[in-house]
Amino acid sequence: MRAITIAEPGGPDVLSWSEVPDPQPGPGEVVVDVRATAVNRADLLQRQGHYPPPPGAPAYPGLECSGVVSATGPDVAGVRVGDQVCALLAGGGYAERVAVPAGQLLPVPAGVDLVDSAGLPEVACTVWSNVVQVARLTAGETLLVHGGGSGIGTFAIQLGAALGATVVATARAAKHERLRELGADLLVDYREQDFVEEVRQATDGRGADVVLDIMGASYLGRNVAALAADGRLVVIGMQGGRKGELDLGALLAKRGTVAATALRSRPLEQKAAIVRGVREQVWPLVEAGRVRPVIDRRLPIIDAAQAHRLVESNEHVGKVLLTVG
Ligand SMILES: NC(=O)c1ccc[n+]([C@@H]2O[C@H](COP(=O)([O-])OP(=O)(O)OC[C@H]3O[C@@H](n4cnc5c(N)ncnc54)[C@H](OP(=O)(O)O)[C@@H]3O)[C@@H](O)[C@H]2O)c1
Repeated sequence: MRAITIAEPGGPDVLSWSEVPDPQPGPGEVVVDVRATAVNRADLLQRQGHYPPPPGAPAYPGLECSGVVSATGPDVAGVRVGDQVCALLAGGGYAERVAVPAGQLLPVPAGVDLVDSAGLPEVACTVWSNVVQVARLTAGETLLVHGGGSGIGTFAIQLGAALGATVVATARAAKHERLRELGADLLVDYREQDFVEEVRQATDGRGADVVLDIMGASYLGRNVAALAADGRLVVIGMQGGRKGELDLGALLAKRGTVAATALRSRPLEQKAAIVRGVREQVWPLVEAGRVRPVIDRRLPIIDAAQAHRLVESNEHVGKVLLTVG
């Protein structure tokens, strides 16, 4: 089969559509004939040599896909050849075929196109596991989402709104109108405005109960300052650096919590549990039209380099999909 391989660490032009060995399904795995995959920020880091795939994952990128099951390995129950699925992957989605643990498969939600469903698993699992499982967001609370226009952000805004939270999001001004349509109650242009001040004003001085952060070090102090009493900060990205200074006095005065998680390196059982939770709690919201895939555009997979340039420019809103076949 063919896949997008990384000839050597570097810019988008190191990506090439090449012949690679076909995947074989191991015990508990199925093979999916890929119809589409999606570009995630992590793929750019992997291409640059900063984010190697975990042991056992294919060497080429792709953290999610949609497609049709074409083979099943031993010890797989409840999945049949011909099923249309989308899947959370440890890697290897930029390909014609990929082997996936059956626990990481999700049905294509009713009302969502097979291609568009490729943009759901990574954001749904990341956002739900952090905002609901880790940070326990509840109705009536305030959720601050950084990078509201990202794949993660567009999903977090919708999920937060569907769960009954007030949603504040940071994004460049050009994206505000689109993010308001998705359910953000307040948009902060982080280039011009101080998000701590904006969150305080919007909450009568209380602050945000939950912060979903993708910036890391550069926002750490201000995120703690933006937290309400008993607030929960969950860091899932380090776009602003990995080493910051944490004022424990400020945190303990608020009885605050700082957590950080990565989905890709979680053990298989944890991923399967998250996928089950997403299927039970998030898929009904998707099928009811309250949370939708936000697709910036679809490009053929041979244009993966162009897709990476687009995501690197941050001009997209939501997900950039790569279609196969
Ligand atoms: N830990 C995990 O398990 C996990 C899983 C998935 C993703 N992630 C992380 O989540 C983040 C989003 O991923 P993605 O693939 O959805 O990203 P993406 O679509 O590539 O978007 C990146 C976003 O960063 C925003 N941004 C840049 N500088 C900013 C700043 N100073 N303040 C606020 N926003 C800023 C950009 O928005 P503007 O155009 O508005 O600047 C852009 O929307 C990445 O950091 C990724 O590594 C983590």
